[in-house]
Amino acid sequence: MPNIAYVNGEFIPTEYASISINDRGLQFGDAIYEVWAVINGKLLDEEGHFTRLNRSMNELAINNIFNKASLKIIFRELIARNRVKNGIIYLQISRGTAPRDHAFANDLVPNIIITARPKNFSQLEAKAQKGFHIKTTKDNRWGRVDIKTTNLLPNVLAKQNALDNNFDDVWFVDDNNFITEGSAQNAWIVKDKTIITRPLSNEILAGITRQSVLKLIQSLNLKIVERAFSIDELYNCDEAFVTSATSFVTPIIKVNGNNINDGKVGEVVKMLRKEYLSV
Ligand code: PDD
Repeated sequence: MPNIAYVNGEFIPTEYASISINDRGLQFGDAIYEVWAVINGKLLDEEGHFTRLNRSMNELAINNIFNKASLKIIFRELIARNRVKNGIIYLQISRGTAPRDHAFANDLVPNIIITARPKNFSQLEAKAQKGFHIKTTKDNRWGRVDIKTTNLLPNVLAKQNALDNNFDDVWFVDDNNFITEGSAQNAWIVKDKTIITRPLSNEILAGITRQSVLKLIQSLNLKIVERAFSIDELYNCDEAFVTSATSFVTPIIKVNGNNINDGKVGEVVKMLRKEYLSV
């Protein structure tokens, strides 16, 4: 299978692709990223992810020398070269290269890496049919998780700890015992036919899938409330689910060993997953 990446203007086999050891993304996590799902050769929520990419760069004052039309052409090329029918596009932009120093010059030229890799979503589909078992853990991330930076160490460690303890994933809980979000997904519950998700703030990422699912919910005339929900509400809800570019809409059927909806996938999440994937 070909494995071609795009790095700083060049299409190059991944094994030969390289970046400076003085890249600020490497040294400081001074970088942002985006992930698009590719289904049947088409990018899901393509525009939304571009909008957030620009916002992330603005928030960190990374020089935005990139042009959406050119990036789209590169994506098409990578999809073709890597023969991706279904898969993931990953894009990472760091502030640039400079001898290590916390301070940075304003005119650094960013480093860009883009990869496209095939992914068999049928495995995820099989898991989604059964539903996920998650654990909860204290949210120990920094105060600007609304910016999609590559600083994901708390997410990485929390996810691995969940897997090591036979859970499928983890949800973060704030100091007041309210759920913030998942390791790499937004968090939702359903109670008495009302769908509930935390409102946007610096404490969660503004998920692009979340935005699309909100629109979907409105178009289906279902009841939605954007408010924080507590861990007790989670234990007592009718359904729970996550959304993200890599999980779409995926049900949660167990939290910290406690069943939700008697451990069965609920009707609302089943319908939302189907509708989301049919657009
Ligand atoms: N993660 N919250 C966090 C912390 C995330 O990392 C993500 C996405 C989301 C959902 O955002 P979206 O719907 O735009 O994918 C919420 C990506 C998939 C990742 O890190 O691989």
